[in-house]
Amino acid sequence: LETGTLSIVVLGASGDLAKKKTFPALFHLYKQDLLPSDEVHIFGYARSKISTDELRNKLQSYLIPKKDASPKDLHDVSDFLQLVKYISGGYDSEEGFRLLDIEISEHEYLKNSKEGSSRRLFYLALPPSVYPSVCKMIKTYCMNKSDLGGWTRVVVEKPFGRDLESAEELSNQIGELFEEPQIYRIDHYLGKELVQNMLVLRFANRFFLPLWNRDNIDNVQIVFREDFGTEGRGGYFDQYGIIRDIIQNHLLQVLCLITMEKPVSLKPEHIRDEKVKVLQSVLPIRDDEVVLGQYEGYKDDPTVPDESNTPTFATAILRIHNERWEGVPFIMKAGKALNSRKAEIRVQFKDVPGDIFRSKTQGRNEFVIRLQPSEAIYMKFTVKQPGLEMSAVQSELDLSYGQRYQGITIPEAYERLILDTIRGDQQHFVRRDELKASWEIFTPLLHKIDRGELKPIPYKPGSRGPAEADELLEKAGYVQTHGYIWIPPTL
Ligand code: BG6
Repeated sequence: LETGTLSIVVLGASGDLAKKKTFPALFHLYKQDLLPSDEVHIFGYARSKISTDELRNKLQSYLIPKKDASPKDLHDVSDFLQLVKYISGGYDSEEGFRLLDIEISEHEYLKNSKEGSSRRLFYLALPPSVYPSVCKMIKTYCMNKSDLGGWTRVVVEKPFGRDLESAEELSNQIGELFEEPQIYRIDHYLGKELVQNMLVLRFANRFFLPLWNRDNIDNVQIVFREDFGTEGRGGYFDQYGIIRDIIQNHLLQVLCLITMEKPVSLKPEHIRDEKVKVLQSVLPIRDDEVVLGQYEGYKDDPTVPDESNTPTFATAILRIHNERWEGVPFIMKAGKALNSRKAEIRVQFKDVPGDIFRSKTQGRNEFVIRLQPSEAIYMKFTVKQPGLEMSAVQSELDLSYGQRYQGITIPEAYERLILDTIRGDQQHFVRRDELKASWEIFTPLLHKIDRGELKPIPYKPGSRGPAEADELLEKAGYVQTHGYIWIPPTL
């Protein structure tokens, strides 16, 4: 493993993302000794004119549980915060970035008694509008200057543009300054335990190999539901909508992992080559295979315009034109302010040919990967109802993580991904051509929505979303088993 100083710079240090995700992830890595204090320093950079102590105080409450913080927790937090220093400056300010470079260099000078290499990680927890200027400033003033090795990397968050054209423009601007191996485009869904498990499931199990195709699978749903609305971030959300916020990135990444061919190896480039291929095989989305929704009350948010046409719910069917998947609908569904919070992949198999049981309680086989909450993988299958009668009934084989892996803490997505950026592993990051292919799929649909040619159907907050979405699901071939609900086991 590389050694030498590591400077982690969180730009946008006082923003929501930094406070809620980036710093807590860094803290968890620190607690696991993955950010040794004799090598690491963390710099917060933002425009607000606050002091280091003020930033530390602000961060404190995000790092430890509000109640029941043990003395050890408090001790860890205070040790961690000692590593954090705040620098105030604008996102296009020469002075600010010069100062940042001086601070980083000073830290490198002080800690470099052992080895001279310098690693500089810039985490842009910022709106993309400032990416080009920030990247330019980093490139001009803050690159690693050590002769003894090291690197400079930038981590960027979505939204990477609003459509194909703006995304390409952004990619060009960043691409002129940094090489692809220096750019880490985060999609935090790729850091989730069960998303990371997809390749293992698919390619290390004989079970799935012969079944994973159009001959056996009838339809696949990739679903994201949240039981809260866009309160507090309506301004951001209204600019983007649910397709750009969730489907074009998070759910599409999941789709890639479900549908891609086996990569040549686990090398990041091999994996990403396969993802790009499958994305390029997605057919144009048909208008009659889309249902949009907007929850009632969304426009009451003062930051949302009264005439907003932005969907807070969408179902869209994707179809992949290749040998494995021709004809199989991939139903992508995401919504805010629905009746539950969960994310799952539901693979529904075809009916058994020549069925002799014809029992009403016998449903189709389903393979479900529950990403959150209560991570689980379960398989719905048919068994004899225990008892004297011979009847077929649906049951499940259930791998619920909470039960099976007691005592194991599943790391936060951001924690793993930040560790990957330090280790230089781009497997779980989005490559430029992958990003382009994903925008190619959704841009025509998004433009129609932007022009008001497609309109969201109102739905009640706390409901399942528009009824038309369930009708589309049925039309696509999904068959619901009535009378069966999987209940996550409690410990
Ligand atoms: C973010 C979206 O990328 O993902 C949010 O911008 C959404 O709108 C969030 O709430 C969901 O993430 P998770 O990990 O809670 O499913």
